[in-house]
Amino acid sequence: MENFIDKAVEETRSIVGEAKAIVALSGGIDSSTVTAIAARAIGKNLTAVFVDHGFMRLNETQFVVETFQDFNVNLVCVDAKRRFMTKLKGVKNPESKRKTIGEEFVRVFEEEAEKVGAEYLLQGTIYPDRIESGFQRFSEKIKTHHNVAGLPTKMEFKAIVEPLRNLYKDEVRAVAKRLGLPDQIVERQPFPGPGLAVRIVGELTQEKVEIARKADQIVVEEIESAGLRNRLWQYFAVLTDTKTTGVKGDAGAYGNTMVVRVVESKEAMTASFARIPYETLEAISSRVTNELTTITRVVYDITNKPPATIEWE
Ligand code: XMP
Repeated sequence: MENFIDKAVEETRSIVGEAKAIVALSGGIDSSTVTAIAARAIGKNLTAVFVDHGFMRLNETQFVVETFQDFNVNLVCVDAKRRFMTKLKGVKNPESKRKTIGEEFVRVFEEEAEKVGAEYLLQGTIYPDRIESGFQRFSEKIKTHHNVAGLPTKMEFKAIVEPLRNLYKDEVRAVAKRLGLPDQIVERQPFPGPGLAVRIVGELTQEKVEIARKADQIVVEEIESAGLRNRLWQYFAVLTDTKTTGVKGDAGAYGNTMVVRVVESKEAMTASFARIPYETLEAISSRVTNELTTITRVVYDITNKPPATIEWE
């Protein structure tokens, strides 16, 4: 792995030279690793752009920014929350939502690249992204993926540099660890480019995003404190638009339904719902209904992939 890092650093340095390069940093393992490699290779000639679209998990933006402040790179965190929300007004359909977010993401990124005058683009493409049978291709048949690592762009670059192109995910993790990235990034569960936006059914509002973010945090905390993290691929909350009757205190309540989605998988092409203990499900359910006043019902998603996908939208 040390050998790999030296070679990747050397390769990046020899391609980019004294020029400027840019990378879209999402805080995911791939883009974080490529950023850390490029930091070693070209230092401040790299600009890492983190686009905060407003659909990140609790404290995530702050965490990514704090982590990469310690690396020798130019870090730009673009607060584009309002911009994304404005574009998404009235957008209900999942495909349109993904498309709107993907397009806006590229636009924000392009603006930053222009400011920097970057001649090279670094990407965290890994081997499974490239092979024909990889999950990317399979998933694309079902829905458009906005993947910040594989940024679709009309921008002109002298070259696209992909230092991780021959690595599998576990190898990327080993490299990331050696590069000194924190466990929270190394062990991070996959998180979709459009973030919480594909875990909220229907039109997005600020209020729904806040609820989804809090619910997600409860699921994460309960799963992790139960020690289940290692055997799971992903665990999260989905906010549906299904209204349901309930009782809160001694009054009737007509609130929303929240879904808990926990899956086991190897590469996301197929997945099975995880048989986690009822006690953990109950802890999630009580916390969600106690801490989030607008949720009156919590259900567990017992669908495998196929036929369902992992995300809801
Ligand atoms: P699905 O929902 O298609 O998800 O079963 C398969 C895996 O891909 C992740 N995912 C995405 N990743 N951009 C991404 O970078 C996306 O638009 C996107 N949609 C889904 C999902 O979290 C799962 O790990």
